[in-house]
Amino acid sequence: MIVLGSDHAGFPLKEEIKNHLDANGIEYVDIGCYSPERYDYAVAAQKACDMVVSGEAKKAILCCGTGIGISMAANKVKGIRAAACSDYFSAKYTRLHNDANCLCLGARVIGSGLAFELVDTFISTSFEGGRHQTRVDQITAIENGEKIY
Ligand code: RB5
Repeated sequence: MIVLGSDHAGFPLKEEIKNHLDANGIEYVDIGCYSPERYDYAVAAQKACDMVVSGEAKKAILCCGTGIGISMAANKVKGIRAAACSDYFSAKYTRLHNDANCLCLGARVIGSGLAFELVDTFISTSFEGGRHQTRVDQITAIENGEKIY
């Protein structure tokens, strides 16, 4: 299950992504926002990412104006590896190499066609593991306050 979230700026893109997921039979839960009224991105980020960390959702897809603010907030949640992406290569490799569990998109940066490509790639690409696991473990160690150098 995918969890979707956005602020007001990301709301229109989130709605389009929902239609795209519906058309492809992919299950999701939408934690809001539910209208274009002001809704702060950090709230959406924490709400969605808590569901990933608890295991209720496998991955989060978040939208704000740039994809950046919501990714910064998401990356403050322990266990989240969020990537703001606006190109296919990054969306693919953040799964292959970083085991990203949160994709962040900028509704004021990319169009819905590209967003759908990034969403599909992010959902369908598996982590490569191996030497990349070591690096992901280092990220986790930093998160846990360990010195890794
Ligand atoms: C909201 O106006 C905008 O600042 C927000 O969606 C996002 O772009 C922040 O990074």
